[in-house]
Amino acid sequence: MTVQTFIPSAVKAASENTVTQPTHTTDVSIKKLYIETQGCQMNEYDSHRMADLLGDSHGYVLTDNPNDADILLMNTCSIREKAQEKVFSGLGRWRKLKEQNPDLVIGVGGCVASQEGDNIQKRAPYVDMVFGPQTLHRLPQMLDQHQAQVEKPKKEKIKLVDISFPDIEKFDFLPEPRVEGFKAFVSIMEGCSKYCSFCVVPYTRGEEVSRPLDDVLAEIAGLAEKGVREISLLGQNVNGYRGETFEGEICTFPELLRLVAEIPGIGRLRYTTSHPLEFSDDLIQCYRDLPQMVSHLHLPVQSGSNDVLQAMKRNHTIDVYIDKIAKLRKVRPDMHLSSDFIIGFPGETDEHFAETLQFIKDLDFDHSYSFVYSKRPGTPASDLPDDTPEQVKKDRLAQVQQVIKQSSIDKTDAMLGKVERVLIEKVSDKDPNVLVGTADNTRLVTFIGDATWVGRFAEIEITEIKTLNLVYGELLNLEPDVA
Ligand code: SAH
Ligand code: F3S
Repeated sequence: MTVQTFIPSAVKAASENTVTQPTHTTDVSIKKLYIETQGCQMNEYDSHRMADLLGDSHGYVLTDNPNDADILLMNTCSIREKAQEKVFSGLGRWRKLKEQNPDLVIGVGGCVASQEGDNIQKRAPYVDMVFGPQTLHRLPQMLDQHQAQVEKPKKEKIKLVDISFPDIEKFDFLPEPRVEGFKAFVSIMEGCSKYCSFCVVPYTRGEEVSRPLDDVLAEIAGLAEKGVREISLLGQNVNGYRGETFEGEICTFPELLRLVAEIPGIGRLRYTTSHPLEFSDDLIQCYRDLPQMVSHLHLPVQSGSNDVLQAMKRNHTIDVYIDKIAKLRKVRPDMHLSSDFIIGFPGETDEHFAETLQFIKDLDFDHSYSFVYSKRPGTPASDLPDDTPEQVKKDRLAQVQQVIKQSSIDKTDAMLGKVERVLIEKVSDKDPNVLVGTADNTRLVTFIGDATWVGRFAEIEITEIKTLNLVYGELLNLEPDVA
């Protein structure tokens, strides 16, 4: 894994594979579904929705064992070449399972599906269904179509490939999200219209479309009623949110945050990801006005060099980013900042890289997702000349990661003696008298307490630093339950 430091809970490493976790029984008569999720938090969210959908429509329950499943779904990522390569090696393993069990159904969704379409079935003919990020709600019908043609001769079968972008209808067909614990993700917009020169997202997920305001608010109110206390709003560029209101007007992202903060029970608000261009003064005011907004921001910048930013088509300069962060730190001096960096973009010189390194030191990032540039077919940057040796790029990446890791360690150390607001999430597995929660800056905080406090917020004084991501503390104040 090339990601350094620890994994903040609001942002998931794009290089990790996760298996959507089961909440089920081992009864052999029950049909079982296995989902492998690659990539970002949007994919994580989508995988949970797929499980909800097939659970509701066909009674499938999740299993964490692919050998045990009746249906295997791979939710793919194409952000970097490495991620894309994983798809076919993973499918190769599933092919063997299908040879042992011809009734096994295999589906491929996500961004590689979107980009490759029926090429997937050309390379892997044992794949039964291909669907995109915006058509996953049609999975139950696809599955029915598949079952209906199982017995048909091969030439009479229609190909089950649906990777269209049918606006935002997806959400009208998804069942109510199931709630586990006190945190939930809520997708507020899909796609991206920024077309950075290196990025496949606008092509695989389509252009930005926002969910209507009332739908988002109703979903969050429902989650709060079921005990959720922390909401993470999700989208490729959440601050590009333009949700239609019931009256046909447009609600912006800061307006949405203000409305969400009024929902009883919501004690903490996060979001990911946002774009520096639309990081508006109004959004900064939300940090001043809304105590639910965490003092932690993931704001991708990609490079600390204006030349590189221009070649990336990010449409802003470094000064714009620096000014916005300065304004933000004025209203929230304790703000923890994280970002994404692409190292070794075509044409990045030693001087450009030195600017990036200096920028990282100046801005004092807490953590980052940083990767060597990966050429993506069909993106404008893939035509740019690139003569930087791969080893030079890797060395630069290691330097960036070292600087940010040290900063991260310093930030954890600086928590000693400070008071953190913590969402108490569970009783420790090791000791029933110890509670575990998360601070605004995503560090885990443990302290002595009562199991009945789980789900509430508390002010904890930090008394000991254990690891980069784990600190101990003592209770100063237990907030009343916000519901
Ligand atoms: N909406 C976000 C980015 C989402 S994509 C934004 O505003 O920037 C997630 C991250 O993947 C990007 O921030 C970028 O750092 C990385 N990424 C995208 N395309 C890449 C490529 N071709 N090579 C390496 N990293 C890439
Ligand atoms: Fe990709 Fe740039 Fe959008 S990085 S997701 S095109 S903001």
